[in-house]
Amino acid sequence: MGDKVTAPAVRARKGGARLRMVTAYDNPTARIADKAGADIILVGDSLANVVLGYPTTLQVTLDEMIHHCAAVTRARPRALVVGDMPWLSYHVSVEEAVRNAGRFVREGGAEAVKLEGGRKRIPVIEAVLAAEIPVMGHLGLTPQSVNAMGGYRVQGKDLATARGLVEDARALDAAGVFCLVLEGIPDALAEVITGSVSVPTIGIGAGAGVDGQVLVLHDLLCLHEDHLPKFVRPYAHLFDEAVAALAAWFADVESGAFPTADESYTMPDEVARALRAEARPSGG
Ligand code: KIV
Repeated sequence: MGDKVTAPAVRARKGGARLRMVTAYDNPTARIADKAGADIILVGDSLANVVLGYPTTLQVTLDEMIHHCAAVTRARPRALVVGDMPWLSYHVSVEEAVRNAGRFVREGGAEAVKLEGGRKRIPVIEAVLAAEIPVMGHLGLTPQSVNAMGGYRVQGKDLATARGLVEDARALDAAGVFCLVLEGIPDALAEVITGSVSVPTIGIGAGAGVDGQVLVLHDLLCLHEDHLPKFVRPYAHLFDEAVAALAAWFADVESGAFPTADESYTMPDEVARALRAEARPSGG
């Protein structure tokens, strides 16, 4: 499948073959993503919603993120594994942010971390980079800001906020991020940002004018029954398929059609006969 993907290798893909990034949260989903040819596996804080059943990403803890990241990295994927720093793991102080990013690497096996936000995150980004941990930026509709944004709204639709996002992207690029996720912004803005920075941009709900795409695995495989955002194209309907498969098995259990002899273990006939004879109630 080729060489292990590294952060410098991702950075070098600017303007080259489009980057393929997808989320994974455990060993089997990491193996699926890697076998399908992912360049980057993001252990996203979307873990909160799609796996742990929390209402937003604000509830997931660093310990939960690291637990799932370690399950992903035990699959030893060829893809670069990026750990998504959860809310409040990099907001309290620069020192705490570096320590928490380090936990992602040491305990979770992550090879890079992602954090949300623009210019105000520069001191944290610089400190994490100084600890030799590659950082992926994330701009636009940043879900950890749901309360500050007043909901999950497309960002950068007017000239002032669009200019602000271009400035944020340039600042993150200058600070040294190896790659930039652009989420929930107009396609024209994503195209301008992509042309304004030296690192690859990876879009989610940011149109086609970017250097790569990312989607949440459970969205693109329809592994849940929730409403899909406009930017998701479902490539399978695994929730429905799993329900149908289980219902078919339950029906076979009920009717006795499962298991057959092919699905059972046997013992030599004479042993079975002797055993049955021994177990027969003695006549009284
Ligand atoms: O947590 C996540 O899944 C993400 C992607 C949507 C980029 O941050």
